[in-house]
Amino acid sequence: MKFFVDTADVSEIRAMAQTGLLDGVTTNPSLIAKSGRKMADVIAEICELTPGPVSAEAVSTDFETMLAEGRYLRGIAKNVCVKLPLTEAGLRVCRTLSDEGTPVNVTLCFSANQALLAAKAGATFISPFVGRLDDIGQDGMGLIADIVQIYRNYTFKTEVLVASVRHPVHVLQAAKLGAHVATMGPATIRMLFKHPLTDKGLEAFLADWAKTGQSIL
Ligand code: E4P
Repeated sequence: MKFFVDTADVSEIRAMAQTGLLDGVTTNPSLIAKSGRKMADVIAEICELTPGPVSAEAVSTDFETMLAEGRYLRGIAKNVCVKLPLTEAGLRVCRTLSDEGTPVNVTLCFSANQALLAAKAGATFISPFVGRLDDIGQDGMGLIADIVQIYRNYTFKTEVLVASVRHPVHVLQAAKLGAHVATMGPATIRMLFKHPLTDKGLEAFLADWAKTGQSIL
């Protein structure tokens, strides 16, 4: 399972890249706005920090402008993945860009039928938002199960990129379902390392080791 970090904070991405566990980055217009930086600059900088796909999202809603934005974003770096909303125009742009060889991440997916359309439009990734579905009392992870099954039934190459991940249980459930990717904030990635028994065990080992008076090096 691939891990993407969902942020436009370059220092966080640098730290995540140093773990050796980072496979890519996702951003969205809200995250770019939060960074307070020019989008092209921040995307270019992120692309230098990771060889993996970096999702940069178009912000227009009509076909022509969205297509022009997608081509512009793709021109920033060779690992830019153009992110498009799951609308009729967005999927039309997805088909055009995919046919040109540009990877596309179709975002704001909230139903299995939407995911089916995105796969038929040639999307590289589909981003179902599990947390936002849970927030309104729907079953976010049930949607992942449906999409994984549908994609397997028809051997679509589109990868299921679980988005709006809020906590480690989402990651566990997504992994058990066989989702290809999970994107999450840096805080959630850090939570994955933690277990109280790891901390307690390490503390005891180090205390016992100190009693020996030895050093390894
Ligand atoms: C993913 O690409 C999205 O940017 C992200 O997962 C949205 O998460 P949120 O629902 O926490 O804003």
